[in-house]
Amino acid sequence: MNLSDQESFNSLSGPSLDDQSFKRISKFAYDAAGLSIASSKAAMVRTRLARRLRHLGLNSFGAYCDFIQSDDGGQERIELISALTTNVSHFYRENHHFKLLTSQVLPDLANQRNRPLRFWSAGCSNGQEPYSLAVSLYESGFLNTNTDLKILASDIDPRVIDFARKGEYPERMIEGLSTELRERYFSEVPSNNSERQWSAQESLRKLISFRRLNLLDTWPMQGQFDVIFCRNVVIYFDQKTQDTLWGKFSKILRPGGWLFLGHSERISDGFQNQFETLGDTAYRLRKS
Ligand SMILES: C[S@@+](CC[C@H](N)C(=O)[O-])C[C@H]1O[C@@H](n2cnc3c(N)ncnc32)[C@H](O)[C@@H]1O
Repeated sequence: MNLSDQESFNSLSGPSLDDQSFKRISKFAYDAAGLSIASSKAAMVRTRLARRLRHLGLNSFGAYCDFIQSDDGGQERIELISALTTNVSHFYRENHHFKLLTSQVLPDLANQRNRPLRFWSAGCSNGQEPYSLAVSLYESGFLNTNTDLKILASDIDPRVIDFARKGEYPERMIEGLSTELRERYFSEVPSNNSERQWSAQESLRKLISFRRLNLLDTWPMQGQFDVIFCRNVVIYFDQKTQDTLWGKFSKILRPGGWLFLGHSERISDGFQNQFETLGDTAYRLRKS
């Protein structure tokens, strides 16, 4: 998480974040969402939560901590995690993964289209990742009339899930998608400001189910997945939480299934024997 200039500027005003409150907040973020927040990020935490204190009319972080730990703090616990997570994403982020998807993964799955195929964008943020997946599936000609393919798109943050489900992007958030693809899969909708606004077409929406899901919780999904994109999510987790996830992914992936991670994320050594490395941050679960 980078402390932006705006955050540094804002951090000059409002209540200060004492050590004790920082520890209570970071412990809560770790226990609730797996977020591992170093003490060097205290200024960022203070800036991001100052708005919440103002909104609640609280004048100290100690009072805020008491509130999130109270019986009435349920909604604020969600707001706190939402404020501390980083939701940056864009269409076709780390495009080499989408190239690998169309050059290797989809050809490999082509003769399995007689069974349900399941993809998962785990930590999908505002939806650019699952919509990029859906566009790639159409563009590669993979989907025929009988293909039963669904993309689960999940995130811990209910705000981004609501946004993604709505599927409407201002022009600055749709960068990364070529004009040609934007015209083919999105429709321009009225905007209430000077920025143009684009809405995902039904062909994309019908492939994707958006769900709020904390990766730390028990996963309710029944079947196995063929492809999982979990990119730029585990970077905020410590090794112990990452290892728990590698174990869970190896169980929920179909043998031979693919796992894509973000550019600075790697499967830890203890799980290397279960996964074959396919390319930069792309893995395949071994069949036996
Ligand atoms: C930087 S975004 C990544 C978006 C997309 N995968 C990409 O690479 O562009 C990280 C997302 O992970 C989500 N996240 C963080 N902790 C999570 C958790 N414990 N369970 C589920 N999602 C989580 C955040 O809410 C955020 O939307």
